[in-house]
Amino acid sequence: MQITTSRGLATRGGEIMCGIVGYVGKKDSLQLLFDGLSRLEYRGYDSSGIAFKNGSGIEVYKAPGKLKDLQKILPKPLPAITIGIGHTRWATHGAPSAANAHPHTVKGVSVVHNGIIENYRELRAELASAGHVFTSQTDTEVVPQLIARYLDRGLPIEDAIRGAIAHLRGAYALGIIHEGTPDTLFAIRNGSPLVIGIGTDAQYIASDVPALLPYTKNFIYLEDRHMAVLRSSGIDLKHIESPEPLQLEGKVVTVNWTSEMAEKQGYDHFMLKEIYEQPQGVMDTLREWIDDTNKLMEEMGIASAIKDLRRLHIAACGTSYHAGLVGRYMIEKFVRIPVAVDIASEFRYMCPIIPKGTVLITITQSGETADTLAAQREAKEKGARTLTICNAVGSTTTREADSVLYTRAGLEIGVASTKAFTAQLAALSLLGIALGTKKGKLSDLEIQTLKPFLLDLPRLIRLALQTDGAVKEIAKTLVDAKSMLYLGRGINYPIALEGALKMKELSYIHAEGYPAGEMKHGPIALIENGVPVVFLATIESLHEKILSNIEEVKARGGRIIVVTDSPAAFRDKADDMIVVPSTHPALVPFITVIPLQLLAYHVAVIKGCDVDQPRNLAKSVTVE
Ligand code: F6R
Repeated sequence: MQITTSRGLATRGGEIMCGIVGYVGKKDSLQLLFDGLSRLEYRGYDSSGIAFKNGSGIEVYKAPGKLKDLQKILPKPLPAITIGIGHTRWATHGAPSAANAHPHTVKGVSVVHNGIIENYRELRAELASAGHVFTSQTDTEVVPQLIARYLDRGLPIEDAIRGAIAHLRGAYALGIIHEGTPDTLFAIRNGSPLVIGIGTDAQYIASDVPALLPYTKNFIYLEDRHMAVLRSSGIDLKHIESPEPLQLEGKVVTVNWTSEMAEKQGYDHFMLKEIYEQPQGVMDTLREWIDDTNKLMEEMGIASAIKDLRRLHIAACGTSYHAGLVGRYMIEKFVRIPVAVDIASEFRYMCPIIPKGTVLITITQSGETADTLAAQREAKEKGARTLTICNAVGSTTTREADSVLYTRAGLEIGVASTKAFTAQLAALSLLGIALGTKKGKLSDLEIQTLKPFLLDLPRLIRLALQTDGAVKEIAKTLVDAKSMLYLGRGINYPIALEGALKMKELSYIHAEGYPAGEMKHGPIALIENGVPVVFLATIESLHEKILSNIEEVKARGGRIIVVTDSPAAFRDKADDMIVVPSTHPALVPFITVIPLQLLAYHVAVIKGCDVDQPRNLAKSVTVE
């Protein structure tokens, strides 16, 4: 999940995942900015800073390390402020130091930035030769330097910002305040996410909704190349190229997330809390459409096209891609049309064939994943109808797709996706049933059989969560493992991939997922004494085949861990067994994934890994 940017190797976090907060209002404590930054900590960072206006100028405080290090140098008691910006930075360019931390301030212009200014080297050289003195090694500093240049030429602040932006290439979300412009906070977006929070007598900006949940539920997801001019009394939205205000109508979304959702509520980690929230997320997602799948088809705009629907495409990344693979099994079973599932970052480069009538489904928790967005845009450009399955109301994929099927997992903060995954499976099962019914491939009887199983899933997931104690015991024995294999067949194969992904990203143990039948074509070479192999064995028709795979691993000394709903069938063969409840064969992934999430969680905790913010990772990847 590491990604290479034009600046070399960056991470799924890095400077691209910095956190921004900003406030303009009648008066509030500096604590507001500090708390906002605390709620963005999950994005990962290694330095932070705050700038605010006092009566006479801009005060800036910056520190390497964690927010507690910033707290130490902030004035005490924290002053009341009317305007300010804050930032958490994860260095990729220039060491994590006070000098490189944001905000960067030049001649009374203070800037926080999330993204990459790709042409900063040229700009920096040009500005330096014109006498500008740089005090950091960051790409960001060219922004206040450019704005200051235009201010020196006599331009008013807004025009100076426009002038500066015209020079920038790359991705950026910016928050800007200016010493000489009272009560005005500027926010600009091009490629990196930024939300505007709308309050009464106060307006806010942030990289993500959770930072602002205590203050407002009303948000505008700033669009690319838009600028917001925020004053305590209200907001003007503009194109970056033009001073004319745009209509606000239709742009404000109200979220039903609460600030409590952004807290751990007694759990040790967000990830654990989110694992336990899965019965709710699945139910909330199903509830919206389960009784009216015809209406779902209409809402998705597919109802009239259904007769000619020959094929579906799915594109997604990481865990969402694994949901897509499960979706393929479900949809092909229920609808009897082929479904192609692609990793979104590959989609564009494989010259996708998009005949008339193609529907591309993107699956994304955040709605901001750059590769997924690029796939959606590519398909749209080639004439496909686009549908996004997304968890973040108002995010970029939802704004750009022709239709949206929301997952109702609620706010997911743990970097490793868990409850969004099972909610995605719920959305895909709804879609499969809706399409299958409309296409006449699912009989009434089949639907009537399936529906009670779906509605029973929250209860079954709760039962699967009761494996926690047993899973924890197994986890204790895995901490020294160097490598693991996860094997499944049929619809459990994507869950083998997902189990392995969770294990590697959380506990840094090398783990691979394979279709069990593929093992003898290569991976079996990895089996030696003690190598843990997790088998997913919850589909009765495949038990025999799984048993032969178990024999093959056992013969080579591998350690057998079986996740099954049929303990009697595997008791003699397994070294360890995790017993889960049975369900409909098309729905087993909802159940088998649960102990695998718990297993990765416990191994990581025992190893002392940072579960909510695994190394090199952050919550959404907004560069390709
Ligand atoms: C793994 C994980 C990632 C994401 C992937 C896509 O635990 O969280 O693999 O699933 O980065 O993110 P979204 O779903 O936001 O597009």
